[in-house]
Amino acid sequence: MNRTREHWTSRMGFILAAAGSAVGLGNVWRFPYVTGENGGGAFLLIYLGIVFSIGVSVLVAELIIGRSTQLDPAGAFRKLAGGAWPIVGYMSILTAFVILSFYCVIAGWTVAYMIKSITGSVLTANPEDIGGVFDAFITDPLEPVLYTALFIGLTVFVALGGVASGIERAARILMPALFVILLVLVARSVTLDGAVEGIAFFLEPDFSKVTWETLLAALGQAFFSLSLGMGAMITYGSYMQRHDDIAGSALAVTVLDALVAVLSGLVILPAVFAFGAAPTAGPGLTFITLPSIFAQMPFGFLFAALFFFLLAIAALTSAVALLEVVIAYFMDEGSANRKKVAVTAGIATFALAVPASLSLGVMSGFTIGGKVLFDALDYLTNNITLPLGGLLVALFLGWVLKHRGEEEFVDGSTLAPALVGAWRFIIRYVAPVAILLILINGLGFI
Ligand code: PHE
Ligand code: NA
Repeated sequence: MNRTREHWTSRMGFILAAAGSAVGLGNVWRFPYVTGENGGGAFLLIYLGIVFSIGVSVLVAELIIGRSTQLDPAGAFRKLAGGAWPIVGYMSILTAFVILSFYCVIAGWTVAYMIKSITGSVLTANPEDIGGVFDAFITDPLEPVLYTALFIGLTVFVALGGVASGIERAARILMPALFVILLVLVARSVTLDGAVEGIAFFLEPDFSKVTWETLLAALGQAFFSLSLGMGAMITYGSYMQRHDDIAGSALAVTVLDALVAVLSGLVILPAVFAFGAAPTAGPGLTFITLPSIFAQMPFGFLFAALFFFLLAIAALTSAVALLEVVIAYFMDEGSANRKKVAVTAGIATFALAVPASLSLGVMSGFTIGGKVLFDALDYLTNNITLPLGGLLVALFLGWVLKHRGEEEFVDGSTLAPALVGAWRFIIRYVAPVAILLILINGLGFI
């Protein structure tokens, strides 16, 4: 390949782009409801524990694979080890594509809800009816599909700009905006009458609810949230300069991602408790409970529109990262140009997104293992492929690359020499053992 590889313009540019990938629907939409379903404070503690041990270590591992090879996930494994290892890369790319398809469906809902919050059609209904409004919307055969197409179009548009002037530039604009909006919403939520109860639920641990499934939920959420196990961070790492700091940047991205998750919890859970709703509403927490809360609030439509705008921004920078995994693969392996791959991959994504969306409505009779397609894709990726991908990456760094990986770890970082011992220990022993135990028990094999 004689094409010169694109790179981020600076260390800050990489951190913003990688944070843009990490911070997504996983933080704002998924994390609060998974926390609500898993008992609140105890889940938060377990989640943060996993993120700052296994999560950040696997993130570092993926960046090492990308930075050292300057290649897409499949090419990177082939260059470093060959044998069967490229299969891990192929699995990652496939997983990224599958996730992208249903991710864009949910992202489409957020765009729809942003618009509908302003026009009032999701808020004026009697709060009791808002669940019905949501069900009617997502099961409609046409409307959500159109919003999904719109969102995929936006994603492809950003990707067409390339690494520096597309992805990085979008993150430079959107990430600061996201933080400002998030802080406004936190301020609104924690000052509601009765918010204290929600804050207590979120911050006071009750370990009596913790099971193996809780641990698997926390592990899957941590990988999903940090964009791990599906080649995204390998791909973004491949656009780093050869000696860019990995350890420091990984830590910054992890802190930002955790911060946005915690702040999102502080937007949603206090509001839920202040209005006497249940934190266990599941995926509908953001689309049903929250709009019904906004509907009862002065200027609620504004806060609702802001909230769904926040979700849409978070989703866009993440969808761009998922699409980039596919783009990098076809650009590195074939010699297709960015424009051709981005557009083709966008169309392919839409082709899988349509049945995923319809599986919630007209196609709900078609199930896989008792789940409609949409839920099956979510379960398969979050609970199986992501942890498996993370496990294999940890084993690869800890037991195949070994010293070579450690040299990469310290290369370019002033922080890394002090951390290399802890990182080696986690990547060789803690991560593989913990992930295996959680996978086996959480999936009910024992
Ligand atoms: N990390 C994103 C989120 O939390 C999801 C994602 C995964 C994005 C993988 C890109 C790559 O929503
Ligand atoms: Na995230």
